[in-house]
Amino acid sequence: MSTNSNDVLTIALSKGRILEETLPLLEHADILPVEDVFTTRKLMVDGPEGIRFLIIRAADVCTYVERGAADMGIVGRDLLLEWRPQVFEPLDLKIGACRLCVAGPEASVAQGKPEAGSRVRIATKYDYLAKQYYMKQSVQADIIHLYGSMELAPLVGMADRIFDVVSTGGTLRANGLVEEESLYEITSRLIVNPVSFAMKKGLIQPMIEHLREAVALRVAAEEK
Ligand code: PRP
Repeated sequence: MSTNSNDVLTIALSKGRILEETLPLLEHADILPVEDVFTTRKLMVDGPEGIRFLIIRAADVCTYVERGAADMGIVGRDLLLEWRPQVFEPLDLKIGACRLCVAGPEASVAQGKPEAGSRVRIATKYDYLAKQYYMKQSVQADIIHLYGSMELAPLVGMADRIFDVVSTGGTLRANGLVEEESLYEITSRLIVNPVSFAMKKGLIQPMIEHLREAVALRVAAEEK
């Protein structure tokens, strides 16, 4: 039974650091959650009438939106590249800026990239992207899937490289790692389920425009 009815708009928000940057954009669009999303233990929170929010892990946002359990969602481009969900991506929200990088211990990176035909152990949560990257270089990648704190894996000798997002670079530095290559610029995107877009266009389109305005204002304020 679907509980995502036609007169309610369900928006999936990524927990974690993106959420703080998301709220001012929602505020501008007049669609703030009615409860404090940082303290509530509720996973589904009401917004203004006709809107509700799902507060979920970033990695799950694509799944909820692709399956139509949420009409829209906010998620990093890194996860869109990794999971390639069948969704519309109408807006770059220009928050959560970081980059997807290959990094490793300083001494090892100084020796150069792994040669074609060699084998490397890669700690990552981006299995697909890491495999693709090394396949293109004819390097055999042994993917070690981790759920966080990738930087630890080379320190304990479990991996040769990490394939992860870097924001300030502070975590790399603190753990004696350096970037070997920066592959993708990442920001958070608004995504929309294609069927929802067709069925609820009257609700979704104005919301996209409000958010677009909020992004433009935020960017203009930062440039001042
Ligand atoms: C991310 C990422 C790095 C860190 C990079 O982890 O996986 O570990 O942030 O940020 P920095 O360049 O500003 O140091 P996050 O804090 O989201 O937690 P996680 O390790 O549990 O994924």
